[in-house]
Amino acid sequence: MPLNNNQRRMLRVMHGDAERTWSLNDLLEATGWADQVHVAGAGKELAEDGLAEISESHSSMVYLGKEGASAVENGLLEARIWKWYEGADDSNRNMAGLFSAGFERNEAGPGVGLLKALGVSVQGGIFVAVNKKSVAKLIASRSEFIESIGKGVDLAELDSEMIKHFSNRKNLIFIEEITTRTWSLTDAGKNIDESKLVNIELIGEVTPELLQGENWRDVEYKAFDVNAPAPIPMGGRPHPMQSLIERIRSVFLEMGFSEIEGDYVQSAGWNMDALYIPQSHPARTMQDTFYLSNPEKIELDEKTLNIWSAVHEYGHDTGSRGWGSTFDKEESQKALLRTHTTVNTVKYISQNPNHPCRVFGIGRVFRQETIDRTHLPEFHQIEGIIHEPDANLSMLITTLKTFYTKMGYPDVRVRPAYFPYTEPSVEVEVLWRGEWLELGGSGIFRPEVTEPLGTEWPVCAWGMGLERLAMLVLELNDIRELYQPDLERLSRMPIL
Ligand code: PHE
Repeated sequence: MPLNNNQRRMLRVMHGDAERTWSLNDLLEATGWADQVHVAGAGKELAEDGLAEISESHSSMVYLGKEGASAVENGLLEARIWKWYEGADDSNRNMAGLFSAGFERNEAGPGVGLLKALGVSVQGGIFVAVNKKSVAKLIASRSEFIESIGKGVDLAELDSEMIKHFSNRKNLIFIEEITTRTWSLTDAGKNIDESKLVNIELIGEVTPELLQGENWRDVEYKAFDVNAPAPIPMGGRPHPMQSLIERIRSVFLEMGFSEIEGDYVQSAGWNMDALYIPQSHPARTMQDTFYLSNPEKIELDEKTLNIWSAVHEYGHDTGSRGWGSTFDKEESQKALLRTHTTVNTVKYISQNPNHPCRVFGIGRVFRQETIDRTHLPEFHQIEGIIHEPDANLSMLITTLKTFYTKMGYPDVRVRPAYFPYTEPSVEVEVLWRGEWLELGGSGIFRPEVTEPLGTEWPVCAWGMGLERLAMLVLELNDIRELYQPDLERLSRMPIL
């Protein structure tokens, strides 16, 4: 790599006094650069090329804090109180006197504490300094110390007792570690050919004019540093959840699926009975499901209710023996907020029992959950079905694997699971940072589900958590972060 112009400039300057060790200020002055990043950058490159040597020394600097700066201007608190003490007499050398002299409560308390530590005692409410001289001397040396700090002093030059004392007081001084660098030429740097030090013209922009001629062959191009820090543009952007939904949508569309939708408000019948969830199932209680008072009831047609009733009670024609308990048609007609989006897919099949289909939906669902790091009472599911004569379990698993692979998570595994409406049932897990995360359930709908829907074909079905996937994609530990209107954090989330 030829030397760039900054390297050349720095070398030229250092050649002016080849044996010298240069400080940052020396180099800034000699090069005329206003910004130290040029010295640091060119210096580092020269060191990498073996032409210069950088040596670093570390030291600690002491600076004045906010209170320290005000102490330099107005005096240390103990100095100001001492001044008052000396001007007062025994009749008002007490707290009341201190206040009437204009000291505020927030100063008087700590100030008296400071004086006590210096040897002033309080006798019957009156301040008494036995050894005035030593108090005055200590205060004077503290004041002197604080004034000596000015714009910063090397820690090594300061009295360590004073440092200890003032470090224990709030905002008077602070200590900062600093690294000081110096630069000098190596032998290779000293001996470099002068011709290599002249400025070269670097082309930063490849224009059509340049390309039309022959010159482009011989010119030197400016190197781009793709790792150079650059400001992050902060424009408007869709909410990360919206972007994620769009991405999921395009993956399913790409895989040949069509999108379906449904309402939040559903009957318990379609949300649960159609899925052969027994009416006594714990998930059906008020504690788990939001039942509505308006509407309280959603009327269902008698024919549908009769079929569910027969399937639940004795299995109807499905070959099953049913749950064996009495089916309550009123229970079926209770209105609720859907607890899963599986209600959309079963309804879709009942409306299109003779049309093979591959459909998906992304929708909000509602469950009475206590909010915590991984639970929200409103969340979203990614639901889908394959309804066709040859639908089978391996088709289901391949489909889900393909989906997650396209989303960027190629390690997918399934484990046996249980849902009242599928047989076999599987749980889908995705590998993330060495851990298997459970993302959803799936399976083949049982005959108790499909027969009342009017279809003869098997149905592959799945329902997965969108927020779970979002936490993975956006690398979050807390599900609530997705919905907090913290613009700063949202704008820093990765673009999907
Ligand atoms: N509905 C199930 C849930 O809410 C997921 C599921 C969908 C399971 C379809 C099997 C088949 O967790």
